[in-house]
Amino acid sequence: MFRGLRALDGLTVRIPRGATYCLLGPNGSGKTTFIRAIVGLIRLDGGDLHVLGEHVSSVRSLYPRIGYMTQHRALYPDLTVQENMEFFAGLYGIDGQRRKRRIAELLEMVELSDHRDRLAGALSGGMYQRLSLACTLIHEPELLLLDEPTVGVDPALRQSFWMYFDQLASEGKTVIISTHLMDEAEKCRIVGYMRSGRMAAEGSPDEIMQLAGLKPHLELLLEDPERDASLLRSEGYEVEVSGGVVRIRIDKHAQIKEILEIISPLDMRLREPSLEEAFLTLSGVA
Ligand SMILES: Nc1ncnc2c1ncn2[C@@H]1O[C@H](COP(=O)(O)OP(=O)(O)OP(=O)(O)O)[C@@H](O)[C@H]1O
Ligand SMILES: [Mg+2]
Repeated sequence: MFRGLRALDGLTVRIPRGATYCLLGPNGSGKTTFIRAIVGLIRLDGGDLHVLGEHVSSVRSLYPRIGYMTQHRALYPDLTVQENMEFFAGLYGIDGQRRKRRIAELLEMVELSDHRDRLAGALSGGMYQRLSLACTLIHEPELLLLDEPTVGVDPALRQSFWMYFDQLASEGKTVIISTHLMDEAEKCRIVGYMRSGRMAAEGSPDEIMQLAGLKPHLELLLEDPERDASLLRSEGYEVEVSGGVVRIRIDKHAQIKEILEIISPLDMRLREPSLEEAFLTLSGVA
């Protein structure tokens, strides 16, 4: 509770070990608060929370097994890339050859090996995110909490981050990650969509799509949209006209052929429903 605001409210979540779990939801829906509650940084006014089999009240003893990357800047701006990594390694008692190997491995992964002598405070936004991720992973945590880790990271590197997250999960590590990007959510085993501190919908991306029951639709560019729309309606199709574009809900792809026997569009494209639309439907927004 933040001055009367229930940032988390009636939230029941079970995250299996070894899963990639994505937290989605609009700004202020409670994603960061949930992550902070897991690491024991927020005192819960009620409810129960267990982390890696332990009650959250003793979560601090689990810190060596947890990696938390905050949404905001948490590194030392006046230390270099290498020094930040060394500092975090030191916190977890990693030294000698192991420290050297681990730092080299991670800097390679986030493509910062050539920038190891730059001050963290002088890195670009995306580079800073990459260094934050590398520092979070230094002690090979088995539970990873990553709050919007790919903000500002370029597409190619984002892809390699996700391959790495999948690899961590396949090694049995649990990766909880918040994002606003649907293509990232689609890569996760379970997606939880939060709204106003609650879990509005949860499931695998396929389950969410099925649950929302959204149908694909065909968008048609027609010479005479109104005339063709009435023709299609008289054949029993659900048709919508807006901005000169005609949209038809279809149940199965075979209907496209039938539609083309009724009308001759100038152009057309098939739009499959997106995960975003599915979530909006399930949470009652659309
Ligand atoms: N320390 C705090 N004091 C007061 N209110 C807070 C505090 N932290 C969070 N809140 C409020 O709790 C709600 C949930 O915030 P939270 O940061 O968890 O959202 P979020 O889903 O992470 O949003 P975003 O996508 O913008 O990161 C918001 O209304 C926010 O203003
Ligand atoms: Mg947040």
